[in-house]
Amino acid sequence: MATKAEKDTTPARYAVMGNPVAHSKSPAIHKQFAHQFGHNIEYTALWVDTDGFAEAVEQFRTEGGKGFNVTVPFKIEAFKLADNLSDRAKLAGAVNTIRFEPDGKIFGDNTDGTGLVHDLTKNLNVYLRSKKILVLGAGGAVRGVLGPLLKQNPALLVIANRTVAKAKELAQAFATFGKVESIGYGDLVGKRFDIVINGTSASLQGEMPPLPVNLFANNAVAYDMMYDDKPTPFLEWAMLHGAETAVDGLGMLVEQAAESYLLWRGARPDTRPVIQQLRKGS
Ligand code: ATR
Repeated sequence: MATKAEKDTTPARYAVMGNPVAHSKSPAIHKQFAHQFGHNIEYTALWVDTDGFAEAVEQFRTEGGKGFNVTVPFKIEAFKLADNLSDRAKLAGAVNTIRFEPDGKIFGDNTDGTGLVHDLTKNLNVYLRSKKILVLGAGGAVRGVLGPLLKQNPALLVIANRTVAKAKELAQAFATFGKVESIGYGDLVGKRFDIVINGTSASLQGEMPPLPVNLFANNAVAYDMMYDDKPTPFLEWAMLHGAETAVDGLGMLVEQAAESYLLWRGARPDTRPVIQQLRKGS
């Protein structure tokens, strides 16, 4: 049996499960969070076989894991696996944070949308109330952020997607939360927005959606939910085509992590020094 001293030095275990996951910045982020509070935690990146998510979850629980983050491609599977869900996870239809409850239940949350809104409002001083927002894309990443964005009461939120039917479906699903419309890229000509958020995965292929010029209103913000060591094609285009500010999703990544940390540990870390540190390192 472990002595008390030995028990006290055992770190609380957390992880991120994904595939791929090797380049995840989450272990470095959570290490800095824990350092702020003097918490004794261990946070690792776990590569999980695409068919092996449920098994990996059980193994991690058996090994004493307290909770974990979920990334591509397991967010929907995590949603299905959870016994209980937060309201924002229900709205998102996806889970990025799991907490193992003392009674053995799996609690699923989604901190992505809150992370995005925190980064915009708290770090960048970009307020969404009464603004015209354009969201590019209609996949899982976009579904995950629509609820928290609409909670900020924008004047209008337009979802543009290559496959317009998917944008329409999302707009209908979120219609009770605010003024939401769907559109195809071709019909954006002549429309202007205060905030344009790229939630497509186009940046991953070095591409961007086909956007018309004159998309940005005065003082407009372009935000890419992706991040890279260099500006994404969307952000480069935005700077050339009238956006006042162009920001990548590194702040969102750190903010969603802080929300997960809060769920697990009951304390919200200071995100600014962590974002600064990551910017320096990239
Ligand atoms: P994720 O979980 O990242 O949201 P997803 O559900 O596969 O992934 O959705 C990807 C999104 O990026 C979709 O909106 C997709 O458009 P379609 O629904 O029309 O496929 C969009 N997307 C991907 N590559 C794109 C590209 N090169 N140009 C424009 N949109 C793109």
